Amino acid sequence: MALVTMKEILDDAMRKNYAVGAFDTMDRITTEAIMTASEKKGTPVILMVVPPCVEGPDADLFMSYLVERCRRSTVPVALHMDHAPSYEYCVKGIKYGCTSVMFDGSSLPYEENVAITRKVIETAHACGVTVEAEIGHVAGHEGNMLDGNVADPSAYTTVEEALQFYKDTGVDCLAVAIGTVHGVYKGTPNIDYDRLDAIKEELPIPIVLHGGSGLVDEDYRKLVAHGINKINFFTAMTLAGAEAVRKLVEETPKFQMTDVIAAGQKAEEEIVSHHINVFGTLPVHADL
Ligand code: 13P
Repeated sequence: MALVTMKEILDDAMRKNYAVGAFDTMDRITTEAIMTASEKKGTPVILMVVPPCVEGPDADLFMSYLVERCRRSTVPVALHMDHAPSYEYCVKGIKYGCTSVMFDGSSLPYEENVAITRKVIETAHACGVTVEAEIGHVAGHEGNMLDGNVADPSAYTTVEEALQFYKDTGVDCLAVAIGTVHGVYKGTPNIDYDRLDAIKEELPIPIVLHGGSGLVDEDYRKLVAHGINKINFFTAMTLAGAEAVRKLVEETPKFQMTDVIAAGQKAEEEIVSHHINVFGTLPVHADL
């Protein structure tokens, strides 16, 4: 039974100063890549689904597979709903077995973000589910990930709003905007480490970094050293899988579907594995 809450995973990461990778999946191949990489390393992992995964006729089948895969995992795994845009999506995530949900009210007026986050927390905590929220706004959207995005310094999280938001909601962990973007970067990322230090100093909860793709290894190490405990990572992983498939198609005269799947999965597993190392994720301990 390795399906745990995100709080259990992140509490350990915060105590021991490492980060855990949180990888988005929308299909079985990517899920197996993420889970296999984590199981080989013996490290905890956060498996994230996006809102479309809990909609439509396939939702029940896909979510049932994910829950069962997590339960059978040899490492602790939190099944997390990433970027839920409403209370209703958070409830759907919980209904389908997520042990953690993110309500993303970062584009809403402050009071509305607080009000919905509080409502989500009330429901989620009653079900033993962890809640993440976002204050400030991490630019870029997954749907637009290939076009290139730039961080907007005016949307960076301030220490005051982070602290006030924590006091107003009691959220379990908080995503902050400090210079990363979702998707591919237009230009060079400019991370505000001083801002991160100041936020970390004030908040007693794990701090989450969105837009994990596109940084160099040194950036990740520095982010972890400055107190990031959860790193959301998607674009580079899916592009690595797609690139491996492209290469296979271009270079191999004859292949079958299983070769395509194997090539994509292997490339995704390799990049996840590399980032588990760079994030400094510690192997499972008896007390987790
Ligand atoms: P990237 O796609 O930029 O890695 O960001 C992922 C993310 O933050 C998902 O919430």
